[in-house]
Amino acid sequence: MASPSSLPGTYLAVLGRNAVLSRTELSRSARELWTDDEISLLTDLQVENPRSLPKAPAQLFLDRLGGTQRLAVQLQVAATVEQSVSVIVDHIALHYPELFPQGDHKYLLGLSSYGMGKSLNKKYMQSITHALGELPHKWVNEGTQNMTSGRYFHEKVGHKGAEYIVHQTTEGIGVYHTVANQNLRNYTLRDRHKEGDSTMGMLPPKLAQILINLAQPAPGTTIVDPFCGSGTVNTEAAIMGYPTLGSDQSKEHIKMAQRNWNFLSEKFRFSTDSGRFTIADATERDYPQGVMVTEGWLGQNFTSRPSKDAAAREAEQVVALWQRLFLTLEKAPIDRIVCCWPVWYCRDGAVKVDKKILALAKRSHYTPVAFCDGSLGQVYAREGAYVGRWVQVLQRAQDLPG
Ligand SMILES: C[S@@+](CC[C@H](N)C(=O)[O-])C[C@H]1O[C@@H](n2cnc3c(N)ncnc32)[C@H](O)[C@@H]1O
Repeated sequence: MASPSSLPGTYLAVLGRNAVLSRTELSRSARELWTDDEISLLTDLQVENPRSLPKAPAQLFLDRLGGTQRLAVQLQVAATVEQSVSVIVDHIALHYPELFPQGDHKYLLGLSSYGMGKSLNKKYMQSITHALGELPHKWVNEGTQNMTSGRYFHEKVGHKGAEYIVHQTTEGIGVYHTVANQNLRNYTLRDRHKEGDSTMGMLPPKLAQILINLAQPAPGTTIVDPFCGSGTVNTEAAIMGYPTLGSDQSKEHIKMAQRNWNFLSEKFRFSTDSGRFTIADATERDYPQGVMVTEGWLGQNFTSRPSKDAAAREAEQVVALWQRLFLTLEKAPIDRIVCCWPVWYCRDGAVKVDKKILALAKRSHYTPVAFCDGSLGQVYAREGAYVGRWVQVLQRAQDLPG
């Protein structure tokens, strides 16, 4: 992606489910836009960089991320709450006539605060309302709770008003204006409107995006998913502009992946020629040059919470599958793998496979790449789920013997 304009800017990112995964994705993706020095300024909630991202590029950038919900640009760092209210009010007063030249329309307002007491939201709302006086406006927050991306999206806040985010740090109160929000309609289209199979489980498109971004594929790199199922990784790769290859041992799944591919190629305008699907056992096929991004096989789909014994039986099969796969990959031109391994949340504790599979990976010269907090794996799981996904990034050692 080309560099955005050169005006200075500091950004705040509201992150999704797993903050470490999201921050790692953000910093690796931002590498396309920003230099390493700039990325090292990444802190818990903030992405700081000395270049600005005007609104359209900010949205385009966000659309490629699975783990960031909103991006907001810093307007000012205020010393006091009163000063931060003035910054917000001045911004609204400037943008109201731009958005509603005829006047008389209600400006939709959202507010979120981080690093400061929740009760402050009420104070902010009251002070801003008071200062706006006659200017017609409406708060869209649910009560005085922070905004959610869902609320921002469904109320069309980006088109009919603005969200402001205040973030208290040791330097003061950062005042931010939201410039991009996840496009939830598109995610729904990619998730719920495509064909699936309840016995197989499907990867959420957001997680597929995160996995692709963690792989940091150079433009033109083929994204290979040898356990493609309904083709989620492949369609996300195509939407992001990468050529892709999907294979699965199930004929039915390949047919389904192909139908989803055709359906989504029309909706998201990618070329059907950018991807191919074949029926193949992942442990026996020839691999092309590319990066492997895959959810992998997570064992049988449990319809009730399993016992540790039942999960351990599945774990054995998953480990055996990866053992065969790594042996196949030793001769394949696949240097980077981003994959998921199952974690079972059983009635009597959790069952994991990461240590065993990592040992096998190392024997085949793949070593783990750390996440931004130094950890070697991260779990992405819905609350209450029976199985979670352990996300692993592997890189083939450069100087292989022989
Ligand atoms: C968890 S599903 C993948 C779902 C997929 N990520 C999606 O979003 O639809 C695992 C897939 O691995 C396939 N599979 C299991 N063992 C395989 C093997 N040895 N070779 C190829 N595919 C295999 C299954 O048929 C299944 O489609």
